[in-house]
Amino acid sequence: MLLKNYTSHILAFSKCLILSFFIVLTACKTETPHERTIERGKIADSIMVVSAREEASRIGAEIMRKGGNAFDALIAVDMALNVAYPFAGSLGGGGFMVYRKANGEVGSIDYREKAPIAATHDMYLDAEGNPVDSLSRQGPLAVGVPGSIAGMFAIHEKLGSLPMAEILQPVIELAENGYQITDNQLARFQYYASVFDKVNEKETLYSIGFRESDSTKIKSGDLVKNPQLAETLKRIAANGKQEFYEGETAQKLVEFIQNHGGIITLDDLKSYEAVWRKPIISNYKNLRVIGMPPPSSGGVCLAEILKMIEPYDLKSFGHNSVKSIQVITEAERRAYADRSFFLGDPDFNDIPIDSLTSKDYAVKRMTNFSFDKATPSSEVKHGVISGYESMETTHFSLIDQYGNAVALTTTLNGAYGSKLYVDELGFFLNNEMDDFSVKPGEPNMFGLIGAEANKIEPQKRMLSSMTPTIVEKEGKLWMTVGTPGGSTIITSVLQTILNVAVFDYGMQEAVDAPRFHHQWLPDVVTFEPDAFGKELLDTLSNKGYEIRQENSVILGKVDGVLVLPDGSLEGGADRRGDDTAVGF
Ligand code: GLY
Repeated sequence: MLLKNYTSHILAFSKCLILSFFIVLTACKTETPHERTIERGKIADSIMVVSAREEASRIGAEIMRKGGNAFDALIAVDMALNVAYPFAGSLGGGGFMVYRKANGEVGSIDYREKAPIAATHDMYLDAEGNPVDSLSRQGPLAVGVPGSIAGMFAIHEKLGSLPMAEILQPVIELAENGYQITDNQLARFQYYASVFDKVNEKETLYSIGFRESDSTKIKSGDLVKNPQLAETLKRIAANGKQEFYEGETAQKLVEFIQNHGGIITLDDLKSYEAVWRKPIISNYKNLRVIGMPPPSSGGVCLAEILKMIEPYDLKSFGHNSVKSIQVITEAERRAYADRSFFLGDPDFNDIPIDSLTSKDYAVKRMTNFSFDKATPSSEVKHGVISGYESMETTHFSLIDQYGNAVALTTTLNGAYGSKLYVDELGFFLNNEMDDFSVKPGEPNMFGLIGAEANKIEPQKRMLSSMTPTIVEKEGKLWMTVGTPGGSTIITSVLQTILNVAVFDYGMQEAVDAPRFHHQWLPDVVTFEPDAFGKELLDTLSNKGYEIRQENSVILGKVDGVLVLPDGSLEGGADRRGDDTAVGF
């Protein structure tokens, strides 16, 4: 019932947002060679940040205006989201970043959470061997060892240009002076306030004033200050990475987790390292796609799906037409079946990335596809590779005045992660342990099924769907893009790229366009409600596709930047959230 109320609230807000988006959009119209009129989003000359919160986008853009580069700015944006977007801001979580430097050099960093040293493969099973979902989703045992601060310092050391203290200063001021609560945030805090009290066994910053029983209520537009987080950030600015992993902050964090019954120790924190990884590079027509490698499944699945759909002329089929939806859905089905079997932490598994993303393999995978009827997922297993044994996240995209581009997706996993709020430090802790395959064959909170490759092992990274992606066109930077949305992340990024590359959409139009999703199991195609015609859905249904229409919130909030032919930048900030593009 509560969930229903919350859902209708969010839907109402989404509708308002869609409406106000169309009213306030200061569109600049451009004719494409195909005579399609593009309604463009925010346009800027040389600097653009698109993130889930205006405060964060503005802080990042100002860092670049002061001469900082994209990497300085990403640290400021990421940390500002901790203040203004605690829903997913991830000091207590982890993430991935893909970059492309102005000179064309590309790379990626993995600062995904890890299982604690004391984790065991059966830690979420009851005496009969059945998963106890609540343990991996809420409270102390759900928490993976956080990686965000290690990631930010590794990025700063390798690619940053301004001192860390200067980067963090505006974020500290935001935490001290407060950020404005939006309608969307108010609805979410009101919904979760009683859950925070229950999980934390006391009231928290994000329950007081949000509960029905509170006499003084926080309203939309009110300022929320977080002095505890400001103090944590000041210590990190002064003492560096070791403050979070070995210093006073580490001591307080471990004490807090253990007092609540968790198993993370100082050794877990001390041994955490972010890892630079080689991105997944693939080609789709004249595009070169630079994606995140495992432990994200994003880069591999995106490359695999693009290869499977490349032979089909989607443009002649039409945008979101029956035939386009069929081709994309069937490719998604097959890629997610492979995800479930082959993918996991590359430090623990040998993953056949080259085979999975090859053209030959893609052709073989699609041989049993027919436009006449759906291929049931029960008939789709993972592919055969010879020699092989075996809600909530947030994304931001930015480009700086030097030509460096960044795509960064960061997460606590579910909304406010485990719901455990470290009051003395001012942030929520993740529930990323649910991204492991708690029991091979059993679905996680996104309905994803995993196998041995993603089983729980001490110090292993759990498989992710986060898909921060950079795309080049004819050798030049063209787009940076990504989204939250759990298992739907990969398919939302895919559709956004195709909207621009194949259907001539602008960046803003591409992120706003209606989306659909298939993930092999459960065998359903999820459509955004009220966005696809009855006739189209009936036709698909008659061909054997099971149709579900879902709350738009779960189909992501894509944020992207597109480089236009004249070199200016178009920001696309998803209408489904409070996402904002700021550029100069
Ligand atoms: N926690 C969502 C993901 O990493 O896919």
